[in-house]
Amino acid sequence: MLPSATNILVAALVLVAPCIAQTDRQANDLAPPDAHTTLLVDVDHRTATSLDGDWHAIVDPYSTGLYTFHQEIRKDGFFMNAPFNPHGDPRDYNFAKAGTLKVPGDWNTQRPDLFYYEGVVWYQKDFDYAPKPNTRTFLHIGAANYRSFVWVNTKKVCSHEGGFTPFDCDVTDFVRAGSNFVVLSVDNTRLADGVPTLQTDWWNYGGLTRDVSLVTVPAAFIDDYDLHLSREDRGLIEGYVHVEGAPAGTRVTVSIPELSAKAMVTTDANSRAAVSLPVQHLSLWSPENPKLYTVVLATDPGPGGDSLTDEMGFRTIETRGTQILLNGKPVFLRGVSIHAEAPYRTGRAYSEKDVDTLLGWAKEMGCNYVRLVHYPHDERMTRAADRMGILVWSEIPDYWALQFDNPVVLPKSEQQISEMIRRDRDKASIILWSVANETPNNEARTKYLTTMAALTHQLDPTRLVTAALLVRTEKNASGGTTKIVDDPLGKVLDVIGANEYVGWYEQGLAGVDETTWDVRYQKPLIMSEWGGGAVAGLHAPAGSDHPETWTEEYQADLYQHQIAMLNRIPQLRGTSPWVLMDFRSPRRLNPGIQDDFNRKGLISEEGKKKQAFFVLQKAYEEKALGKPE
Ligand code: GCU
Repeated sequence: MLPSATNILVAALVLVAPCIAQTDRQANDLAPPDAHTTLLVDVDHRTATSLDGDWHAIVDPYSTGLYTFHQEIRKDGFFMNAPFNPHGDPRDYNFAKAGTLKVPGDWNTQRPDLFYYEGVVWYQKDFDYAPKPNTRTFLHIGAANYRSFVWVNTKKVCSHEGGFTPFDCDVTDFVRAGSNFVVLSVDNTRLADGVPTLQTDWWNYGGLTRDVSLVTVPAAFIDDYDLHLSREDRGLIEGYVHVEGAPAGTRVTVSIPELSAKAMVTTDANSRAAVSLPVQHLSLWSPENPKLYTVVLATDPGPGGDSLTDEMGFRTIETRGTQILLNGKPVFLRGVSIHAEAPYRTGRAYSEKDVDTLLGWAKEMGCNYVRLVHYPHDERMTRAADRMGILVWSEIPDYWALQFDNPVVLPKSEQQISEMIRRDRDKASIILWSVANETPNNEARTKYLTTMAALTHQLDPTRLVTAALLVRTEKNASGGTTKIVDDPLGKVLDVIGANEYVGWYEQGLAGVDETTWDVRYQKPLIMSEWGGGAVAGLHAPAGSDHPETWTEEYQADLYQHQIAMLNRIPQLRGTSPWVLMDFRSPRRLNPGIQDDFNRKGLISEEGKKKQAFFVLQKAYEEKALGKPE
């Protein structure tokens, strides 16, 4: 029997897209079809050999390591990792003598000469390996921004495009007993037909920005699963388990020991076992009760069998008219937007410390929800949100003006949404998948994102699909302004996200009070972005009625006015003001004010809380902003 449409679709999206999407001919030459790239779910619960730490690194602005002087793919590229031999062929590189870069970590904040660098950097690492019979070994890469090619022991093993989602390269046929080496070229050159495209209001941190490890699994192994609480019956957990390489009839057990719940099922011809697991006395996951259960997934016990545990919460999320229902009850999302910028040290966030600081601040502010922008964050972030009871909006970088009419681009977005959902499907905290942010309202865009919304619903019918839309502005009869939410994309979304900067980019503080809203959808609305900039420590003269922009007082006033305006929108069901912490952006160049930072944070990158932080904290603690119904 042929694999189901969804299986074909997901498999195709995860495996083939990197090849067809490459724009320049060279990338196509370098990226033969990737039979070795997949995405192992729950890999952070697998036994792994970490390859984190110092890697030799060569900065290669001309891609000399890949191309000859006639721009042909080199046979003797840097991936050969040839040892220096004073009597041998002259070589233009020597990893053994090259400096190092830390992994995980972006290169921009590790070396001042790489602060602005966009191009290829080569990474090389030696590792020892002891083969085990009847197993497969994967090189796990948490994320590599933006496009990467991977060689093990001089053999090309895989490639990947997309800077914020993981990929796992099957290196079983390429590793050997004893010493081995891996070489990667990571290229963060921005591409017009990339996702994201050329313009972003965040720093293009390049490199191996998340964990790298070696993972060995049995020949037939659990690589994907979906276990979710039924919306119709909150005493039933449903889903599937996929066992890569397993013949039909392979036994799979899914159990939740704490609930004495166990399902014994078998795989079909697609190596997939459907799961239906009745449960009693299930404690539903919610911000007030972030209950996680240890879930054990196993195939036939004994040699060759696989087993995996996961920490999962179970809850339902849906909409009813303009309400968002969590476990059947209306909820209001008190949130904030967060970029993966590391507090204090800056650079791409990845560590437990980064995560605990960022989400700790959100909790301190009274948030029960965060919008993770504009790309999938490190898995540590979504695991922590599960533990801390914080609802999550997760997004792929379909950001601003992608080339929506260019056929090579959609497969890239499809691949990224598939990878994001596959990695984080097991996170109860995630309730919203966002397919876009502030995209232009035109036919090509709407067609593109309508396809994306349909795919997202198909890949995960248990969560809500949203996007952050731009809002139209019209003068109203009373001389004020009306913001109109009627972007046609809203038709295919479950929840409408809208971004507005009334009182900052437009109209000043007084304008906020005179602004009315005309939301043309009977759906829940999340004001996904609003706010304004302030320099921490910059203050207006005491008692000044009209504080200057960029002062903390102006930002605090703006929040006061915004909160009053937002409370006048009947279908408002959540807010995620822009932004928790100042973050680096190449578009923010005002000296003494911005200095490469977007200053709309409620906290500076040095951890200084601005006055507006306390304005929002008060509103959230007193539940003075928004209503669940
Ligand atoms: C936009 C955009 C953000 C950006 C913000 C700003 O709304 O979505 O990425 O940083 O505005 O202008 O600060």
